[in-house]
Amino acid sequence: MIGTVRHLFAIVALLGGVFAKRSVVAPKGAEVLTVAVIGDYGWVGWTPVPDHFCLEVLPELVAAGITIPNEVLNDCDPGDKASLVNATAFQTDTASYVGQVCSMKNCSAVISVGDNIYDSGADFSTGGILRFQEAWVDMYSQGVFEYAPWYQCLGNHDIVKGQSAVDFQTKIAPLYDDRWYFGTKGLPYYTYDLIGKDWTATFVVVDSDCFLSKYQKNTSVYYNEYTIECHKHTKVQVDFLAETFKKSKADWKFLQVHHPYMSSSTNYTMDLLPLIEIVEEHNGIVLNGHDHCLAHYVYNQTNYILSGGAGYTQAGDCNNGIKLGPYAKFLAANAETAANGFVTMDISKHAVNVEYYARDMQFENNDLYPVKQDLKPTYSFEITKHSK
Ligand SMILES: *[C@@H]1O[C@H](CO)[C@@H](O)[C@H](O)[C@H]1NC(C)=O
Ligand SMILES: *[C@@H]1O[C@H](CO)[C@@H](O)[C@H](O)[C@H]1NC(C)=O
Ligand SMILES: *[C@@H]1O[C@H](CO)[C@@H](O)[C@H](O)[C@H]1NC(C)=O
Ligand SMILES: *[C@@H]1O[C@H](CO)[C@@H](O)[C@H](O)[C@H]1NC(C)=O
Ligand SMILES: *[C@@H]1O[C@H](CO)[C@@H](O)[C@H](O)[C@H]1NC(C)=O
Repeated sequence: MIGTVRHLFAIVALLGGVFAKRSVVAPKGAEVLTVAVIGDYGWVGWTPVPDHFCLEVLPELVAAGITIPNEVLNDCDPGDKASLVNATAFQTDTASYVGQVCSMKNCSAVISVGDNIYDSGADFSTGGILRFQEAWVDMYSQGVFEYAPWYQCLGNHDIVKGQSAVDFQTKIAPLYDDRWYFGTKGLPYYTYDLIGKDWTATFVVVDSDCFLSKYQKNTSVYYNEYTIECHKHTKVQVDFLAETFKKSKADWKFLQVHHPYMSSSTNYTMDLLPLIEIVEEHNGIVLNGHDHCLAHYVYNQTNYILSGGAGYTQAGDCNNGIKLGPYAKFLAANAETAANGFVTMDISKHAVNVEYYARDMQFENNDLYPVKQDLKPTYSFEITKHSK
């Protein structure tokens, strides 16, 4: 089995040039290019482990000292299991909402901030392929989604199954569907440029899973051969960011990662600092997810755009709408709910216009997050200070 997989990867490596060229990319030359930023979405099709196993069998196995695969532990997560029905509805409804706003705004590309496949990613197995098909290929298939490339990024749920899951998203998925873009080298970190009429924007995608010290505890479900190895070599990704930003003469420079440096629930301040120092040096902009809500933070003159609201939203991730400090400019949450939605960026020479779209969350006979006119942005701001 492993031999077959290795053999296929060897073929993929040989076809390297071919698979890179197969992915579609955003159109060049626009005066204003609109892109969608979306995160934390891929729930549809997830089948959790049954209660009988999680509640009765699992404790016995643990007591007997039997090692439980991370995937099984993660797929027993009681919070995630409880949210499955809502999460599935939220992803589906938000997908059509994003499609609606994006057809109005003419989005030319989608920028993902990770957590593409819940609960434990998609590895190179029949189950992984089926999940990829349901949670992404079929979910985002109509209107602008028919042709827009998705510039992808890994989140913690994407890497639970380790290297095989990373390989699936970085090497197999781009061959499976040409809208799924993961760089040209099949690596979990990469760069791309969006090129307008008289402007350029450089994006650097980094796998922040490698930077989190708490994922290095052997009790973490994210502790596996992939995270152990890439945690030892975070310098590779830090240097990649530094060199790419240094070489780039772009008007706008973005760091695209999953985890938040600035947050209303957990700031990964120490872990992500080496990346943020480089962003600050270049007047860059940070795009992230992980917190299941929409927010705008400004800290030490750097803009942090949180777009984690395209699947199961969590009010606590945006501190129930209560700002913890002046760094919090906008939180799309109230006491009970965080809004579903996403962010658009209209990129031009003179500005990046950032708009937050929060969905009116009508649900059965209820409205979980009333928004009067949800085809208009709930909040927006403009970045005019160029990167350097
Ligand atoms: C949408 O934007 C793309 C990229 O700028 C452009 O080529 C296309 O003509 C636009 N379509 C419409 C309908 O405005
Ligand atoms: C799911 O949504 C319903 C509908 O309003 C809500 O009452 C319930 O609390 C939600 N459940 C979870 C686990 O979020
Ligand atoms: C996990 O780490 C702890 C110390 O951090 C160690 O005592 C324990 O043996 C480790 N367990 C396994 C299964 O490696
Ligand atoms: C994150 O950092 C900001 C700025 O230092 C701070 O005000 C805020 O309380 C922190 N958030 C959390 C959840 O600790
Ligand atoms: C704020 O940014 C400056 C550079 O712009 C940097 O020297 C300083 O260390 C940063 N401070 C913090 C607390 O991140």
